[in-house]
Amino acid sequence: MTKTVKDYIRTIVDFPHEGIMFRDVTTLFADARGFRMAIDQLLNPYAGRPIDKVVGLEARGFILGGAVAHQLSTGFVPIRKKGKLPGAVISEAYQLEYGEAVMEVHDDALKPGERVLIVDDLLATGGTAEAGIKLCHRLGAEVIGCAFVIDLPELGGRKRLEGLGMEVHTLAEFDGE
Ligand code: PRP
Ligand code: MG
Repeated sequence: MTKTVKDYIRTIVDFPHEGIMFRDVTTLFADARGFRMAIDQLLNPYAGRPIDKVVGLEARGFILGGAVAHQLSTGFVPIRKKGKLPGAVISEAYQLEYGEAVMEVHDDALKPGERVLIVDDLLATGGTAEAGIKLCHRLGAEVIGCAFVIDLPELGGRKRLEGLGMEVHTLAEFDGE
């Protein structure tokens, strides 16, 4: 049978701590067919639509977003964890399981009216993506969609982003299996 994107994703039990099933995309990225399939499927709904920039969320969103941007012939903009970008930035805090984290983007990375596609590897609670969406909006950009390889529906990220009016595109769902 032909392998799907989901078949290339490895599950590591009890990482980073006990009780967590870590969905590991390195096995997907390392496989020539798997990686190409993932990139093709991620961008498929957006082919032929006007997109000015692909925005990737650190860290695995850089690997996917760079490939998607190349294929769509757009520029690429990184949204990074606090303190990593060298120029002037704007910041958004978001909730983690324990505590808070901060995402940043260069304050001149997007122009008002630019249409962006946000890319990351995994949608869980949607907190990271929501911070990314807010940063894009604060720069005046229009977010035309958010694309992820993995959706963990039990954590509610899709509903959260759709509640913000976002178009959400994902390739593989995992529950507690
Ligand atoms: C993971 C994943 C997503 C985010 C999803 O990143 O790569 O970016 O969590 O979770 P959420 O939907 O609940 O916000 P992580 O914060 O582990 O950092 P990394 O990508 O830099 O490893
Ligand atoms: Mg991440």
